[in-house]
Order: sequence, then structure tokens, then C-alpha cells
Amino acid sequence: MRSLVVGASAGLGRALAEELARRGHDLYLVASDERDLEPLARDLTLVHGVTVHTHAADLAALDPTDLRAGYDQRFDDLDCLFLVAGLGDPDDSGSVDPVLLDRLIAVNFAAGVRIVNVFLDDLATRPGAHIVGVGSVAAARARRNNSVYGASKRALEFYFEAIRHYLADAPCRVQFYRLGYMATQMFGDRETMLPVARPEQVARAMVDRLGGASGVRYLPNWWRWVMLLIRLLPWPIFKRLDV
Ligand SMILES: NC(=O)c1ccc[n+]([C@@H]2O[C@H](COP(=O)([O-])OP(=O)(O)OC[C@H]3O[C@@H](n4cnc5c(N)ncnc54)[C@H](OP(=O)(O)O)[C@@H]3O)[C@@H](O)[C@H]2O)c1
Repeated sequence: MRSLVVGASAGLGRALAEELARRGHDLYLVASDERDLEPLARDLTLVHGVTVHTHAADLAALDPTDLRAGYDQRFDDLDCLFLVAGLGDPDDSGSVDPVLLDRLIAVNFAAGVRIVNVFLDDLATRPGAHIVGVGSVAAARARRNNSVYGASKRALEFYFEAIRHYLADAPCRVQFYRLGYMATQMFGDRETMLPVARPEQVARAMVDRLGGASGVRYLPNWWRWVMLLIRLLPWPIFKRLDV
């Protein structure tokens, strides 16, 4: 199996790369800085004996045909595409700096669509193929914080729904995850009363589900009940919450 992981240098993407390598996948790893990717690739090859190539690119200025060409130079076919990269920012509330705004949309939404687009025709007909996307519980109900991030993640989920419909009779599975809090750089040292998952635990659950049905899942699964509650809160109460 060959997997392409976008956002592989840290957090969940890195944990996914490790989990996939452990299960024998050859890997094509994408993130913005080669200095993060190269030692990871070397380590995975050494420990697991898999072939790992890297591609450094800023997703906010991505040329998807360049990514596709780079992949095709290294591997013949792609089996699993994982879109994991994400970007949040504490200033993503109310009126957002235009440069930050473009970057949030580019990394969290546009880059994902553009990458799926250049691999879609080949993945569509490939037995055992998967397109896997990562969203967030932040997109379940709009609020004043993480507004562009949440909107971009919801847009990405909408696009995945469209692709799932497009591929309904095809062998390729389309899986999308609404993730809860994970102990990564993105989550930082925020305080929360809710449990925070380890990225390794989430990565293992995602890899375990390869071969399973297409669809949308919360990870960890208990977040579905929390988000159901949040969505059911009447507006007069919800608007007063500092969430
Ligand atoms: N952590 C949470 O609590 C949480 C909750 C819900 C959903 N999520 C989602 O889960 C996914 C993984 O998050 P994480 O917590 O693992 O994040 P993270 O630790 O910050 O890692 C983000 C990854 O995305 C890459 N990335 C970000 N911007 C990029 C850019 N412009 N170009 C290329 N690569 C870029 C980063 O690589 P470089 O920075 O090296 O480029 C890194 O590999 C994201 O989609 C996030 O939205 C996270």
C-alpha cells in the first residue's frame, strides 16, 4: 500500500505516518519544511523498512500539479490519500486580518480540494483506495472564535460529502473525521474540562477503519453526544456561552 499524508510533520499527521509505516505502507509525506520531513522519513525507513519520500510545500501557495508530478516520479499508484493539515489562529474572530483570512481558507479548505482533485480520477477506480479527510468539532456549530477555521472545515466536509456521493458506486472509500481535542501543537496548553486525546490514539483508530465504510465519524466517538448537545442548545443560551 502507498499512502500520501498531507500535514505529516507534526501532531496527528506525524502519528498517522508512524502508524501507517508500522503497518507496512510506503509513504509520501507533505508539509512546509523539509527539515522536519527528512529526519522523520529517515527514521521511518530505518525502523519499519518502508520507502518514504517527502515533498515540502506551503499549502497556502500549493501547485497541485507539481505535487502530483512529484508523487508520480516516486511511486506508480496511490492507495490512500490523507488530508490532515490544519491551521488555527487565536485572532480568527470577528474582523480577521486579510492575509491571515486567506491563509486559513487556503490551508483548511482550498488546498484539500485542489489535492483531491488531481488524484481523484485515479483513486476513483482503484480497488482498496481511500480518500480520508480531517475536520473538527469546531465546525459543528458556528461561534465567535475560530470563525474562518470552522467555516473552512465545514466547507471541506461538504466537499467530502460531494465526493462520497460522486464515488458512491466506485471502489474508493471516502472517510471524513470530525476530531475533538488532541494534545498537539495546535491545541497548545489550553485548559479544558473535557478529555484530550493523544494523536497516536486517533491515528490508530483512523488506520483501523481503512477498509470500512465511507462516511463521517467523530473521533473519539463520544464527541458526537457533546456536539449533539451543543447543537440542540437554544440560541438565547448558546449566544451567551464563551465558547
Ligand atoms: N489538535 C486539536 O485539538 C484538533 C482538534 C480538531 C481538529 N483538529 C484537526 O486535526 C488536524 C491535525 O491537527 P494537529 O493538531 O495535528 O495540528 P499540528 O500539530 O499543528 O500539525 C499540523 C500539520 O499541518 C501542517 N501544515 C500546517 N500548515 C501548513 C502549510 N501552510 N503548508 C504545509 N503544511 C502545513 C504542519 O506542517 P508544517 O507546519 O511543518 O508546515 C503539520 O504537519 C488538523 O486538520 C486540525 O484542524 C485538531
